[in-house]
Amino acid sequence: MNVRKIAYRLLRMFEKNKRFPTEEVKLALSRMKDKERAFFKELVWGTLRRQIYIDWVIDQYLKNPEVPPAVRVALRMGTYQIIFMDSVPDYAAVSETVSLIEEKSFRKLVNAVLRRITERSFKEPDLLHIKYSHPKWIAEYLVEHYGFRNAVRIMENHLKPNPLVLRANTLKFERDDLLSMMEEDGFNVQPTLHSPQGIVLKYNGDVSGLSYYKGGAVIVQGESSQIVSFVLQPKSGEKILDIAAGFGTKTTHIAELMKNEGKIVAVDVSFDKIEKLNKNAKRMGINIIETAVMDARDVPAMFEADFDKILLDAPCSSLGTARKNPDVLLSFKKEKIKDLSKLQLELLNAAYKVLKPGGNLLYSTCTFIKEENKENIKNFIENHKDMKIVDIRELLELYKIEYTWDGFGALLLPDETLTEFYISLLEKVKD
Ligand SMILES: C[S@@+](CC[C@H](N)C(=O)[O-])C[C@H]1O[C@@H](n2cnc3c(N)ncnc32)[C@H](O)[C@@H]1O
Repeated sequence: MNVRKIAYRLLRMFEKNKRFPTEEVKLALSRMKDKERAFFKELVWGTLRRQIYIDWVIDQYLKNPEVPPAVRVALRMGTYQIIFMDSVPDYAAVSETVSLIEEKSFRKLVNAVLRRITERSFKEPDLLHIKYSHPKWIAEYLVEHYGFRNAVRIMENHLKPNPLVLRANTLKFERDDLLSMMEEDGFNVQPTLHSPQGIVLKYNGDVSGLSYYKGGAVIVQGESSQIVSFVLQPKSGEKILDIAAGFGTKTTHIAELMKNEGKIVAVDVSFDKIEKLNKNAKRMGINIIETAVMDARDVPAMFEADFDKILLDAPCSSLGTARKNPDVLLSFKKEKIKDLSKLQLELLNAAYKVLKPGGNLLYSTCTFIKEENKENIKNFIENHKDMKIVDIRELLELYKIEYTWDGFGALLLPDETLTEFYISLLEKVKD
C-alpha cells in the first residue's frame, strides 16, 4: 500500500474543500496495518499542524509562490518529512514526493525546492503565528486575551501529537484494575494525572476492535472532556438533562457517576449521533438514558422544569481541539463566531427554562473564544437574575488542573494530556 499516495490524495481534498475528509480518512485507516497507520497519521496530521510554518519555508525557494494546489500539497508533505520526520531519510522524502507529482513539468521544480530544503539553509521566522503555525488572527487573539505566556503554551501544545485517552467505565471496572489487566495483556498504559478515570493508551490500531472496548469497559474520551462531568457532580437518583449530547461521551460518564441510578434525558439534533449514543450506552451496560432527536431550543415545549442538573456542552468553534483536529485552525472562519454565540445563548435560555430551582447548569465548550464563553455567560446571567456563578476553582485544583478564571468560568490550560476546555457552573437560586 502506498501510504504517501493516499495521504497526498486526502490532503489535496482538504486543500480543495477546506473541510477535513473525515470519512475517507477513517476508511483509509481501516485498511492499513498498524505501522502504516502510524506513518500516515504522523504525515497527514503533522503536515496540517505545521502547514503555515512549512509554507513559509517553501516560499523562500519559490520565485512565484502561485503554484497549483497539487504541487503546493506535495511540497508541504515533502518538507514535513524532511524537517520533522527523523525516520525518513532526506533522499527518500525528496524522491517519494517527486514521484507523487502527475504533471511532469512540475517534477523538476519540486525536486529542486525540496533539495534546497534538505540543505537546511532557510531562515527561521520571527513572527509568532508562523513560528507556531497558527492563522495570524488566532495567534493575535490568544496573546490579546490570555497574555503571551498562555498563548505560547496553547499554541505549542497544538503542535504535539494528540495522546489516545480512554475513560474506564466504573460500572464495570475500577481504573486501577483495568490498568493491571491491560498491562498484563501487553498494552502500554498509564493513568492520567487529572481525571481519576482516564487511561493513556499507546496504540496505533483501531480501539473499537479491542475486547475492552467491545465489552464496554472503556470509551475514548479526552481528559479535559472527562473533567466536565466531575465538575457537574451528578448523584444517584437525580434527573439530569444532557442538552447537546452528541455520541454520549459525557452522558455515559454522568450515568457512571450516578451509578446507573436515576434518569438522564439526552438530546441532540443529529439522528446519527443519538444512534451512536444508544449503542455506547448499551455496550457500557447503562440503562438510565432516554434519548430524543430534536433541536434543543424546543426542549421547554417538551419537558417540565424539573431537572436537577443540566449539561450544555455547546456546539462551538472547537478551536481547543486543534491538537486532535489540526484542520480546525486552518478551516475555521472567524465570521462564524457571531452565529455560534447566538445559538449558544439560545441553548442556554432553553436550558434555563427546564432547570429546577436550586438546580445546576453546567456550560462547557472546547474553545478559547471569549464571545462563546465568558461573554455568553455574562449576557445570560444579566438576563436571569436568579442564576448565579458557582466558583469551581477549588474543585479544579483538587484535580491538579491549571486554568485561567474570568469571573464566570474557567478555561482549562493544556498540558501533556489536557486540552483547552471552558467550564462554567451556574446555580438557579430558590426564591
Ligand atoms: C460539543 S458537541 C457535544 C459533544 C458531547 N457532549 C460529547 O461529550 O460527546 C455539540 C453537539 O451539539 C449538537 N447540536 C448542535 N446544534 C444543536 C441544537 N440546536 N440542538 C441540539 N443539539 C445541537 C451537535 O450535533 C453536537 O453533537
